[in-house]
Amino acid sequence: MSPAPVRGRPPRDLEAPRDLARGWYVAERSTRVGRRPRPAVVAGTEVVVWRTGDGAAVVMDRFCPHQGAALELGRVVDGDLRCAFHHWRFDGEGTCVAAPSTRRVPRGTTARVHPSWEGLGYVWTWWGSAVPEYPPPDFPHLGPASPAHRRYRFAFDTNATARRVLENGFDLPHFPVVHGIAGDLRLTWDAEENKHTMGARITTDSIALPAPLDRRPGGLGRLCLHLRSTPSYQVLTFELDDRPVAHELLAVTPVARDRTTMHGWTVVPRSGGLLGSAPVFWAYRLQHWWGTRADLRIYRDAEDTDGSINTPDDEGVLRFRQFHRHWTGRGPR
Ligand code: FES
Ligand SMILES: [Fe+2]
Repeated sequence: MSPAPVRGRPPRDLEAPRDLARGWYVAERSTRVGRRPRPAVVAGTEVVVWRTGDGAAVVMDRFCPHQGAALELGRVVDGDLRCAFHHWRFDGEGTCVAAPSTRRVPRGTTARVHPSWEGLGYVWTWWGSAVPEYPPPDFPHLGPASPAHRRYRFAFDTNATARRVLENGFDLPHFPVVHGIAGDLRLTWDAEENKHTMGARITTDSIALPAPLDRRPGGLGRLCLHLRSTPSYQVLTFELDDRPVAHELLAVTPVARDRTTMHGWTVVPRSGGLLGSAPVFWAYRLQHWWGTRADLRIYRDAEDTDGSINTPDDEGVLRFRQFHRHWTGRGPR
């Protein structure tokens, strides 16, 4: 059993997740990155997230290249991160720009900086290869807070892998069993958009409500769940009778081998009529929480497997896994 982590510090015995896809992952929420460097763990790598003088977020290895002090003990001085141990200073590129305890900065001294991007309320980092191979998420539905929509942010911890979290939406046969979505569900694939995105629609002509609300003739209406997934994040849109009910951004932080945090946003358009009303927003939010808890309960004790018996109904997850596999391992050099 691993020792309990020191409060506020990541544990030291983190094993990197296996078969992680190269991609953009959430390092930290933007609002948590301020003037003090903040420790975080992405893919078993301990990092600090901090801001340079002009506010740009930096994701840097946690331990100082000089004598290994934890850099979150340092502080940002004149836009550089100053280590607490001997006051060496590193700029946003990781270059050591001052080493006051020595006569001159040893040549080539750098702290490792990971590619990063800030947007949609998060600091993201590219993991798996030196240079990003596809863009970070585009989720225009979030926009600035506006009366035109209601929205909420979510975060759930799970011991599932990032891949299992992302493939869930493509797992057609689990919807009636785990989420009680009755109806004749069909899966159709979008034409390939690019190498890093796969898209599919899950549709049913009529989605039934659970009892005792199931008296409405014809059920709720025609449901379409449109999924567009990269190997590391995805955007989902739920439509009822061709009207968007909710847009969701699902991202992950693959912390360690059996620790993943699911992050994201749900945006519900405030349209006229019942669909855009506050009760529907809260009902949606409740079913999202409830449905995610139902998935997490399965993940918690599931074996980490590629599936030993697969049927044609498993086509959704199998195809996602095939797509995902192309992005695991080392990328181009
Ligand atoms: S350990 Fe960071 S400056 Fe020495
Ligand atoms: Fe699910």
